Amino acid sequence: MLYKKYFRKTSLKQKGDGDFFLEEIKKKKPKFFLEVGVFHGVTARNVCELLFRIHKDDFKYIGLDLFEENEENRFEVMPKTFFSNPLKQIYFKYIKRQDPYTMEAVQDLLSNFKANVHLIKGNSNKILQKIDMSKIDYVFLDGGHDFDTVKNDLNHCSEVINNYGTVLCDDYNLSYAPGVKKAIDKFVESHNYRCEILRNGRFAKIEKK
Ligand SMILES: C[S@@+](CC[C@H](N)C(=O)[O-])C[C@H]1O[C@@H](n2cnc3c(N)ncnc32)[C@H](O)[C@@H]1O
Repeated sequence: MLYKKYFRKTSLKQKGDGDFFLEEIKKKKPKFFLEVGVFHGVTARNVCELLFRIHKDDFKYIGLDLFEENEENRFEVMPKTFFSNPLKQIYFKYIKRQDPYTMEAVQDLLSNFKANVHLIKGNSNKILQKIDMSKIDYVFLDGGHDFDTVKNDLNHCSEVINNYGTVLCDDYNLSYAPGVKKAIDKFVESHNYRCEILRNGRFAKIEKK
């Protein structure tokens, strides 16, 4: 299956990265997927389409995001929400009449999978501790890029890894967000997990040895 962009913004915009990502998911065939950092929901939609092909209705997708820029996250590396493409500006302003960086807009993009999807608006530093991680078998970690946030997010993913699930982290080697690599390296070392660096340092895949 090829990664589609649905006329929105996504982290996986570079040619081939989205297709590579979907192939990674396909290898594991997860049934209970968590994405930290949903943004416009493009990856969420691709994941739901893929999991539907594999499992029909028998899968769950949980997506967590701040869904707003505020005081609390002013130190985070936030993707730009502004569209430079005027066609996209017109499409969202006058046709869809929605801001794609809202939970409502992402719900709309995922409306074919209503029964499978659960979106949460909030900060992973507060929300992850409330999520039952015991059933989750795949995490795509692509939320806050600050060292402490990545450290927190990974710590809550230990149960997933210990249950033989997979945590795939985006932006492992991002020059302007060095906290991501630092947090992942420390986490992997302290738990003695296996960590594979993929796509020239873009992704870090963490699993039990
Ligand atoms: C790089 S984008 C995610 C892109 C998305 N995964 C994709 O593939 O298109 C990062 C997202 O993480 C969210 N974010 C940043 N810090 C967060 C936090 N502490 N808790 C939850 N979400 C956070 C931002 O609002 C932003 O939407």
